[in-house]
This record gives sequence, C-alpha cells and structure tokens, in this order.
Amino acid sequence: MAADARASDSSTPAGAPSAAARLAVIGNPVAHSRSPQIHARFAAACGHAVDYTRIESPFDQFVATVRAFADGGARGCNVTVPFKGEAFAACARLTERARRAEAVNTISFDADGWLGDNTDGAGLVRDIEGNAGVSLRGKRVLLLGAGGAAGGALDPLLGARPAALVVANRTAAKAQALIERFAASAARLDVPLSVAPLDSPGHDFDVLINATAASLQAAVPPLPAGTLRAGALALDMMYGAAAGPFLQWARAQGAIARDGLGMLVEQAVEAYFVWFGVRPNSFQVLTALRREVDAQTDAAMRAAASSNAGRGDGGAAA
Ligand code: ATR
Repeated sequence: MAADARASDSSTPAGAPSAAARLAVIGNPVAHSRSPQIHARFAAACGHAVDYTRIESPFDQFVATVRAFADGGARGCNVTVPFKGEAFAACARLTERARRAEAVNTISFDADGWLGDNTDGAGLVRDIEGNAGVSLRGKRVLLLGAGGAAGGALDPLLGARPAALVVANRTAAKAQALIERFAASAARLDVPLSVAPLDSPGHDFDVLINATAASLQAAVPPLPAGTLRAGALALDMMYGAAAGPFLQWARAQGAIARDGLGMLVEQAVEAYFVWFGVRPNSFQVLTALRREVDAQTDAAMRAAASSNAGRGDGGAAA
C-alpha cells in the first residue's frame, strides 16, 4: 500500500540517496489513512520530491516512534488517532491554535525542536467556506461533541465570525469545560459562545457540524426536529460508510448533507503549507478521492446488503 502512495521521484536509481522530503502519518490503526495518496498528489502538482508513508506506532511508544522518524532526517509528520493529545504534550513549541485545541495533528521537526500545529479546524472551515460555498460569517452554528475533534474546530470556527456558536455534547460538563478554554477568544471576536443540551440545542441553525464519535457506532445524535433550518448545511467529520446514517438523517431534515472528505483534504492542504510554505490546489485531489471513496462505499454497502439478504434478516448496511 505504501509503495503506491509515495511521491518521490521514481527515476531515482535504487539505492541512490534521495533528496525527497520524508513525511509520514503516525497513528494506530493507520492502514486506512488516505493521507499518503493526498500528499503524493499535492507533491506531484507542486513538483516537490516527497516520500510520505504510514507508520503504525505501538500504543505505548508514540514519542519513541516519532523520535526515531525525526532522527532519521524526516521533515515532519501528521498525527492521527489516538495520539493527538500525546503529540500536544510532546512538542517543544506549539502554534496558538494547537495550544488552545490541546491536540496536535501536524509536527515540523525544526532545528529548535518539534513544532506542533493543529490544521483540522482550519481544514474544516476551508471546506465549508471554500468547497461547500457557505460563508460562516453571521450564521448560527451548532457544533456537536466536546472531544479532540470539536476542540480542534473551535478556534477556526470562532475566527469565521458566526452570529452564534453553540456546543452540544452528550456529557454536558465536557462541553462547558471546552468552551471555557475558548471564552477569551470568543469575547475578543465578539462571537456568542454557549453550551446547550444535545436533545434541545435550539432551533433553526444554519450550519451543523458533527464532531462526535457517534457515527463510528452507526448512531445519530438525538437532535429534535426543527434544529436545522431548511437548506442548512449539515457536516459529519466522518466519511465513507460511517457517515451514512448522519447524512441520511440530515437529508431527511431538508439539510444539505456533507461528509468529512473535504475537511480531510483541506487539513492536508494546511499541513502541506506548514512543511513547504505553499497551499496546493485541492480541487482535483478532492474530486479523485471522492470518486474512490464513493466507489468503495458503494461496494461495501452492496456486499453488506447481499450478505444481509443471504441471512434473510434485512438489516441495514452500515
Ligand atoms: P475525538 O478525538 O474523535 O473527538 P473523543 O475525544 O473520544 O474523540 O470524543 C468523542 C466525542 O463523541 C465526545 O464528545 C463524546 O461524547 P461524551 O463526551 O459524552 O463521551 C461523543 N460521542 C461518542 N459517542 C457518542 C454517541 N453515541 N452519541 C453522541 N455523542 C457521542
């Protein structure tokens, strides 16, 4: 899998020293990660020599794994589940958005030590405003969840100056603790930031962002009818089959449903900028990835449907 994901110059003779910038996504599990394909396409479009691989770190050896990669001359890495909190703790320096998110998804191995950044929220906002064409300024936004994914989104969402930003979470105390970290930022930007119960978050939101892990359990947070105005944008940070139930629910509310594939590509654009100082164009990469993911999701759903039909239980594909 990693071989087709490499963007380094294939004309380099075997065994010859390569000038390719070495990067990786480090997680556990990590085999499913699309980041190597995304960064290979960015590198090809930018004319950069990049060797971007996947590294599965043992759960108890994340820092040692990153250190070994850095000591080998790598330029940086992406960090994914479940290590974003550990990466935050391990970095010598942090960008402001990573410090407030308390999570790091992008590290640069600088001479001054590891610099940790968080490009997830910026990717989310770029996807909503750039790809989906929905300006967040002056809109009513509802963010579901209070874990690392929601934390990464808050700063860039506030920066987009919505009319109101409401955070709703299954465990209310976590939502309260989360918004307290961002209260000063919200006040400075004059954005009303509040919490609400998941089953009564308020009405007529323009934008809904699902940053909970509910889709991993094929569950949809229990939002009442009327939460969204007709034509609202409802985005799940997941993509593929996992996002299916939420997207189906969103369409049933009259909303425009969007999965997390665009966010995935846009956070990679931001990470590429951190390492190379340029933002690759995302359009063709997102289009190609969308085609691949849709084909895989369709195939998986057909396989699930036929195995369900075989068992005669009529269960829904997830
Ligand atoms: P991540 O880093 O992906 O955000 P996390 O930090 O474990 O993961 O956070 C998961 C979030 O999804 C939490 O907000 C969690 O709610 P709790 O704080 O109440 O645990 C939320 N979540 C998980 N399963 C859920 C479900 N079935 N319905 C609603 N929210 C759910």
